[in-house]
Amino acid sequence: MAFPTHVRLVEVGPRDGLQNEPEPISTTTKLELIERLGAAGISYIEAASFVSPKWVPQMADHLQVMKNLARQEGVTYAALTPNLKGLEGALECGVEEVAVFGAASEAFSQKNINCSVAESLARFEPVLERAQQAGVLVRGYVSCVLGCPYEGEIAPAKVAEVSKALYDMGCYEVSLGDTIGTGTPLKAKRMIEAVSRDIPMTQLAAHFHDTYGQALANLYAVMEEGIAVVDSSVAGLGGCPYAKGASGNVASEDVVYLLDGLGIETGIDLDALAATGTWITQAIERPNRSKVGVALSAK
Ligand code: HMG
Ligand code: MG
Repeated sequence: MAFPTHVRLVEVGPRDGLQNEPEPISTTTKLELIERLGAAGISYIEAASFVSPKWVPQMADHLQVMKNLARQEGVTYAALTPNLKGLEGALECGVEEVAVFGAASEAFSQKNINCSVAESLARFEPVLERAQQAGVLVRGYVSCVLGCPYEGEIAPAKVAEVSKALYDMGCYEVSLGDTIGTGTPLKAKRMIEAVSRDIPMTQLAAHFHDTYGQALANLYAVMEEGIAVVDSSVAGLGGCPYAKGASGNVASEDVVYLLDGLGIETGIDLDALAATGTWITQAIERPNRSKVGVALSAK
């Protein structure tokens, strides 16, 4: 396979990037972040998460975020919806796309969404049905595709099985999450090979956390296989509250810099994106984990 000519970035900073922050971040700051990301040319933003505020307090203002978005033309604003309750809330706000999230690991599924993998799939079915009735597309996440914080190694066949179940159920795209960032390029390629036997490469996305500093290398490897949708987070913000020690997603600025160098189109203004990374890390008093962002802001 050759590299894709165009890559779509799914910016998960406002959701994955912020969900684990212990101090409350104001709705105004979240809204400004989303607006700046759209202005930098990001066409898909995961803006909020309709999960239980007891489980993830930082996402408790999901209604206010989704209802007060300064929507920009050409930008899709999406939200996580683990069950019907979440979906109904998101639909009330006029959400354009939602995502359900499962796992290739039983233990992670229990810790993250309080049910087994089979139960989660059964719970997602009515979410997909209702979303389809409402004309809302559904993305499916699979966590722990390159390792689990509780179970360790995860077989590519298990990742393929859960991914296929989500795809067969009607998820138009399956995003493969290296939740704890332990993957390495060869492993990432093998996992993609296994999953793409059942699902077209065009319907798969890579969602790599950078805990072990391997995310860019892993992305390069899977893009070589044809992956053309990449999830990333501005300034490398983030982590999962149910994967202790997991750090943020690969930084959006670093991905855009890599893609620019490969001559792959994104439509994103790197300087504006880097300025957004500098702004949000100052606003929430976090280090900027994008090397490109830090380099550009030092110029
Ligand atoms: P549960 O306790 O089994 O659910 O949680 P329940 O149906 O028994 O409900 C319990 C309470 O939660 C009830 O309230 C419900 O109303 C409420 P109470 O009567 O106790 O006051 N509730 C809700 N409230 C708001 N929105 C909802 C909702 N559903 C129930 N949608 C549940 C099950 C899934 C809700 C819970 O486990 C949960 O919210 N988990 C979310 C965990 C999470 O957000 N994790 C991070 C996102 S996933 C991730 O980061 C990985 C990813 O990035 C990919 C990767 O990196 O691998 C996507
Ligand atoms: Mg994640």
